Amino acid sequence: MFLCRNDTMKRKMKKIIIANYKMNPQTEREAVKLAHAEDREGVIIAPPFPFLIPVKKALKKAMLGAQDVSTVSPLAGGWGAYTGAVSASMLKKMGVQYVIVGHSERRGFFNETDVMIAKKIVIALEAKLKVILCVGENADVRAQGITPAKAFVAEQLQKDFSEIINNKSAFKNIIVAYEPIWAISTTLYRKDVTLEDAETMAEYIKEQYPVRVLYGGSVNARNASGLLAQKNIDGLLVGGMSLKLKEFKKIISNF
Ligand code: 13P
Repeated sequence: MFLCRNDTMKRKMKKIIIANYKMNPQTEREAVKLAHAEDREGVIIAPPFPFLIPVKKALKKAMLGAQDVSTVSPLAGGWGAYTGAVSASMLKKMGVQYVIVGHSERRGFFNETDVMIAKKIVIALEAKLKVILCVGENADVRAQGITPAKAFVAEQLQKDFSEIINNKSAFKNIIVAYEPIWAISTTLYRKDVTLEDAETMAEYIKEQYPVRVLYGGSVNARNASGLLAQKNIDGLLVGGMSLKLKEFKKIISNF
């Protein structure tokens, strides 16, 4: 770990908003229509794999993100007999600039481990993709208080960054998204994050690593401006509301 708070602050960058479409919408036509309408500077659109190329063609200002990448390294070939896998080099060649890694839905539904996530980070960076690493605690951990929640996130970061910890320049191409699972819109019995909670965790992450930090979890037109106004929150990772054009337009009107 290294203290690089000043480095991060020196790199004063514009806030960013990521639209994570998850496994939506149902057709290419809808995806292209949505992305075209959400095409703004500072926005990153992350559609499902089959819609990456048509969405890319529809974008003039926004950047393109993928929602996942394979653990098969481009340096080890990056192609071959890996059914269902999409490599970092394929994404790069398609014009993808960012890749989301370690989303809680991949950790939870697809049993992704921190070892796999650490590998994906290295592979994505080798292919010159920027990484959006998602971390965040579940409701049980948060119920014990902010200190255990911080410890949980710190452990995730420590494990996920284990392969790059001695490579300070790698962190220039990494964004961390703090997404507490208990605040995600599709979580049963979800709860609203407070501005204080989100800001405290963003600050905590920046105290340890020289990264930009986003917040994600039920971001909507009502809470976006408050979240974006926080000193340590550099942007938002939006799920459900990135599929609702009116809401998303209101969210991005805040920057
Ligand atoms: P929601 O905005 O639907 O809560 O999703 C958050 C998320 O998981 C974004 O990656």
